[in-house]
Amino acid sequence: METKYFIMGRDPDETIYKECAEIIRRGGLVAFPTETVYGLGVSAFRGEAVPKVFEAKGRPSDNPLIVHVAYPEDAEEIARTSELYYKLAERFMPGPLTVILPKKDTVPDAVTGGLDSVGVRCPSHPVAHKLIIESGVPIAAPSANLSGAPSPTLGIHVMRDMKGRADAVIDGGSCDFGLESTVIKLCGEDAVILRPGAVTEEDLLEICRKVTVSEAVKNPEAAGARPESPGMKYKHYSPNAEFILLDTDDKGLIDFINGQKEKNLGVIISEEEASLVTGACTFIYGKKGDIKEYCHRLFAIFREADDKGVVKLFAPLPDDKGQSLALYNRMIRAAGNKISKIRR
Ligand code: TXA
Ligand code: MG
Repeated sequence: METKYFIMGRDPDETIYKECAEIIRRGGLVAFPTETVYGLGVSAFRGEAVPKVFEAKGRPSDNPLIVHVAYPEDAEEIARTSELYYKLAERFMPGPLTVILPKKDTVPDAVTGGLDSVGVRCPSHPVAHKLIIESGVPIAAPSANLSGAPSPTLGIHVMRDMKGRADAVIDGGSCDFGLESTVIKLCGEDAVILRPGAVTEEDLLEICRKVTVSEAVKNPEAAGARPESPGMKYKHYSPNAEFILLDTDDKGLIDFINGQKEKNLGVIISEEEASLVTGACTFIYGKKGDIKEYCHRLFAIFREADDKGVVKLFAPLPDDKGQSLALYNRMIRAAGNKISKIRR
């Protein structure tokens, strides 16, 4: 299949939206930027077309897709909403939050992998927003990577994974947050975080009475036994390189890396510390302690490390508090839950 590649800003915008909306309406696949990562979109109402998304990604069909709407109230078309949903929407939508709600029959089973719930997300990225409006239908979209690979945060990442697999790719530059949305399910007045993201536990507590973090967030192996969110049982986000997390301080990390004899090693490190590393290729996440920039860069770094032929990629174990919980979750999963303790 030929994949049309549009660069937002360079090509005349209106034509791109019209053409891509037409592709969506007739059941084709369009990859588009959001404020979190790129999505691979299909009309949420074209049940017969939805399997193409799973095929394009090589994704197991029991892992449900989330549905993107232009406005929070458009959730009415696809889900049974609640007062709490609207309170959350008022505070966090449009934005990087996905709320799991009981689904309506308008949503084909192919979208939800047979579950009776559906994830609703209202993206704030202007390209995503306008594409949904032009299409006139909600858009079901997983991240636009091949299954198991890091989610794409640049148009070129999408092209690398989806060229020949999607009908069109809209390149809107670099995604702002860089990790996928926070996914929550609601239980009465309470929320359970199934996947941490830019909207944190503390943020949600402004609206919800109680917020808990699913056990699988910090311990991916727990997901294997009792997955609340099917996506949590799959290995994810990994570079081809072996990714190894080191539980140590800055000095321990640098001593460890510089003491290695192997070739083709890489390390994720701050701008300030990069020059202290002699034994490995450095991948700078940003200024020391800049979590926002680290989230923004992580998946791109995974891909850069592979491009450079890195065989083992090391990183210090991040904190699991606040926005850093999202980073922690993606990193332990990329590392297959392996954390090496290094003497401090
Ligand atoms: O930021 C994002 O959420 C991006 C952009 C494109 O919007 N999308 C994304 O989709 O990350 P995906 O499919 O890669 O991840 C959605 C996650 C999966 O782990 C899936 O298992 C879970 O949400 N999920 C979807 N529907 C669900 C449901 N009804 N119940 C529980 N978990 C659900
Ligand atoms: Mg994904």
